[in-house]
Amino acid sequence: MRKIIIAGNWKMNMLFPEVEEFLFELSDELEGKDLNSVDVIVCPPSPYLEITSDIANDSKFYVGAQNINENNNGAYTGEISAAMLKSMELTYCIIGHSERRKYFSESDEMVNAKLKKLHENCIVPIVCIGETLEQREQGITKKIILSQLDGAFKDIKINNNVVIAYEPIWAIGTGKTATPQQAQEIHAIIRKWLEESYKKDIAENVSILYGGSMKPENVKELLLQSDIDGGLIGGASLDVSKFSKMIEIAVEL
Ligand code: PGA
Repeated sequence: MRKIIIAGNWKMNMLFPEVEEFLFELSDELEGKDLNSVDVIVCPPSPYLEITSDIANDSKFYVGAQNINENNNGAYTGEISAAMLKSMELTYCIIGHSERRKYFSESDEMVNAKLKKLHENCIVPIVCIGETLEQREQGITKKIILSQLDGAFKDIKINNNVVIAYEPIWAIGTGKTATPQQAQEIHAIIRKWLEESYKKDIAENVSILYGGSMKPENVKELLLQSDIDGGLIGGASLDVSKFSKMIEIAVEL
C-alpha cells in the first residue's frame, strides 16, 4: 500500500535563524503523531540541508534537496551533485520543477540525466511535471504530461524508487488549486502510463503527489482521490502551523 507523502518545498525562502525554530516546532508537532501511513519530507534550500538533516535525525521527517546538477563533480561553480546528497545521507531530491524549467531552461533531457544520477546515488527523485494554463486551454494537457513522462523516464528502470509530482503550472503559487476531479483525472493518466511503461505492481506502488496551492482547506478533498497520494506544498509549507495541520489531516484519513 502507498503511504501518503506530505512534502514541503521551501523554494528560495527562509533565513537561517528561522530554520531551526521551524524545524524544532515541526519535530514537536510530529512527536506524538502516528506516522505509519504518512511520510513527511522537508526540502529546504541547499545551505540549510545540513541543519535540516541533523534535526531530522532525531525527528520523524525526511529531508530532500530541491535540485542537483546532472554531472558527477567538477568545475560547475554554484552547483551541487547527487553524490554530495548521498554523502549526507539524504533521502529525496526534487527534479524538473516548473520553476527550474522556466527560469533555468531545464529540459526533459536534463531531468532524465538528473534522474539517472539520483538513482545511481540511491536517492529518490521527486519528478515534477505539469502543463501551463495555455496548454490546458488548448486541450493538450494529456499530451504534454505524457511527453514529459516519456522524456524524464527515458531508459530508466524503476521499482519503488521514484515519486512523481503533478503540478499544473497555473495552480502554483496562484491560490488557484486544481479541483480534486481535475487533479485525479491527470493522476489516473500518470498511473496508467506507469502501468503501460513498466508493470501493474510498479504503477500501484509509485506515489503520485499533487502540487499547486495545496493548503489545509483543500488537502483532505484532494487526498481522498484514489490516485492522489500526497502533496508537494510550496507556500503553505512555510508556515509551520499550516504544514502541521496538513500532516494532521493526512494522518486522520
Ligand atoms: P505552491 O507551490 O504550493 O506555493 O503552489 C507548489 C510547488 O511549486 O511545489
